[in-house]
Amino acid sequence: MSKVKKVAILTNGGDAPGLNAVIRAIVKTARTNGIECYGFIEGYKGLLFNNYVKLDLNTNASGLLHKGGTIIGTSNATNVFNYKVTNEDGTVEYKDLSDVCVQNIKNAGFDCIFTLGGDGTQKSSRDFSLKGVNCIGVPKTIDNDVAHTDMTFGYNTAVSIATDAIDRLHTTAESHHRVMVLEVMGRYAGWIALESAIAGGADVALIPEIPYDINKVVAKIEERRARGKQFSIVVTSEGAKPIDGELIVKKKLDDGKGLDNIRLGGIGEKLANDIEELTGIVSRNTTLGYVQRGGTPSAFDRVLSTKYGTKAMELAMEGVFNVLVNYKDGKMGYVSLEDVVGNNKVVGAASGNTKESNIRTVPLDDDLIRVARDLGMCLGD
Ligand code: F6P
Repeated sequence: MSKVKKVAILTNGGDAPGLNAVIRAIVKTARTNGIECYGFIEGYKGLLFNNYVKLDLNTNASGLLHKGGTIIGTSNATNVFNYKVTNEDGTVEYKDLSDVCVQNIKNAGFDCIFTLGGDGTQKSSRDFSLKGVNCIGVPKTIDNDVAHTDMTFGYNTAVSIATDAIDRLHTTAESHHRVMVLEVMGRYAGWIALESAIAGGADVALIPEIPYDINKVVAKIEERRARGKQFSIVVTSEGAKPIDGELIVKKKLDDGKGLDNIRLGGIGEKLANDIEELTGIVSRNTTLGYVQRGGTPSAFDRVLSTKYGTKAMELAMEGVFNVLVNYKDGKMGYVSLEDVVGNNKVVGAASGNTKESNIRTVPLDDDLIRVARDLGMCLGD
């Protein structure tokens, strides 16, 4: 006997391939079990403005498996616990409007809210759970940096897209005898850069976890030149930084206190300039950007998303709330939101995060690091 009769989904934060596949899996499992399913429009904004639609597999929720983006929209600038309000006189205030959301959920009679998102989304999800809302989080982000889960959906697709870009840069780099730099996403974690660098056979991979020494990068390129290799491929995370420098912030945003209010970008351009100056080899940067997040999910992500969605709905039916669905050692499971982003936060190898942050960075003893070093790839140190 299911513990829920009426549930709602929201997708929050930057989109990721597989969001619609998760929605589809939740809605289908709900239908199989006679449960009504709704979607809040544009993430937590939908909760605040009471904007939701019924998800129907015959109409608006049909044909979703391969579709990129999210059919219910998303918002990555809405922190309802600290919401930016501009008063008539132009002054700005930050207000906690979470009680409005709780009332909306109560009025609609939702027994559970599925929160599809990354670290910030799950923090709000946990805060709603403390206010008595039944929440189930599903870890989404192409950056693959949510604690307590080995893989978020969307990541595999992003790595494939980055790998394809490296393949394409290879042929043009070789033809022109150039250094090609590819800047990929990854604010605080280098998963996309490292894995695509290995998949694409790059010579240098720079990640936020290992501040780089430009002289080491140059030495690698020179060593290749001495061996007759006239070109090199450098992959960098947008969040990589030099040992003596800072993160390159393209823009500071003021769209909600407490959110991660910086837009990164520019390290690839800096690297290309520095490498050209220090080696004399013509160097170019390509910033891959939002191509990594858009479009159809890989087969792997479709299956992973489907596993996440069905598991989330199964947990709701069992009455297991205030948890994050996770994927650990090849198995679907769950962990309490409190352990992921709350007071009981579990720190260290089991979760992948640190005391200072909830982000699952690449551990320095990870297999990917070992593999890269064995291959002679320069990691900037
Ligand atoms: O969190 C995923 C991510 O793709 C980051 O790698 C990137 O920095 C960020 O989103 C950019 O998103 P937006 O410009 O939509 O805020």
